[in-house]
Amino acid sequence: MEAMRAVQILNPSGEVTMPRPERTRVMCVANQKGGVGKTTTTVNLAVALALHGNRVLVVDLDPQGNASTGLNVPHHTGVPDVYDCLINTVPLEEVAQEVEGIPNLWCVPATIDLAGAEIELVSVVARESRLARAIAAYPGHFDYVFIDCPPSLGLLTVNALVAAQEVLIPIQCEYYALEGLNQLINNINLVRQHLNPKLEVSTILLTMYDRRTRLADAVEQDVRNHFGDKVLQAVIPRNVRVSEAPSYGQSVMTYDPGSRGATSYFEAAQEIAERGIKEPVIRNA
Ligand SMILES: Nc1ncnc2c1ncn2[C@@H]1O[C@H](COP(=O)(O)OP(=O)(O)OP(=O)(O)O)[C@@H](O)[C@H]1O
Ligand SMILES: [Mg+2]
Repeated sequence: MEAMRAVQILNPSGEVTMPRPERTRVMCVANQKGGVGKTTTTVNLAVALALHGNRVLVVDLDPQGNASTGLNVPHHTGVPDVYDCLINTVPLEEVAQEVEGIPNLWCVPATIDLAGAEIELVSVVARESRLARAIAAYPGHFDYVFIDCPPSLGLLTVNALVAAQEVLIPIQCEYYALEGLNQLINNINLVRQHLNPKLEVSTILLTMYDRRTRLADAVEQDVRNHFGDKVLQAVIPRNVRVSEAPSYGQSVMTYDPGSRGATSYFEAAQEIAERGIKEPVIRNA
């Protein structure tokens, strides 16, 4: 019911479509800076695309388990999770859970066990490509796989970068936003050179934009000058409904589909979907 209501409010005429890509787009949502909107972006884009007919898998790769919480997927101790896939090579399909209330959406949860993985991975075989293998072996045909990274550049994020073709970087519209971004880009370049030649930064999303401040505007200009058309036209405003939604185990798309947070994420998802069928770089990846 909520899913239907959300679609009716967000897309009343049904005119907006989110075309499915020819091949699975594996997108790593990364920024080693904490609290910039990685998880919020992962959850809301995933829900928006799934509500519009795409088959979507969210992989929660953060021991905090925020994406699992946001999608209301059980992830207490003892629940099979992404740790089991990375360390014990359990197939992803054995741990993926259907997200209740959102057709076409699945989530591989993270439990607190994942906190140990960063260290345990150091001594396993093919430590950087465990997730890539697990995703490649998944028999489900997804249109999108979103990997929600932790706020660090350790082996978990490296696994996400090796598994993906695209990196989506959420950037918070605030003063220190661009600091540290070079380090992320350097890491992406290293992964591309040595482990995953297909990797591209395809998408930048400006988050928590506060239009009352001139600073937000300045950051937006800076980011657009630097990254050009990788930056989505849609900008996510700071919106209290976005931050309330997770405490109800919902995305803002279903929690308050009429809010500015929901409509902005809806527009961002639409742009991503359209780029996916246009851009040859992505199609050939
Ligand atoms: N557009 C928004 N408006 C208001 N609050 C937001 C918005 N986007 C995210 N938040 C809030 O900001 C906080 C950080 O967001 P989020 O958890 O998505 O960031 P993150 O990058 O995943 O953090 P971490 O680095 O810890 O994983 C959360 O409390 C979230 O609810
Ligand atoms: Mg997060």
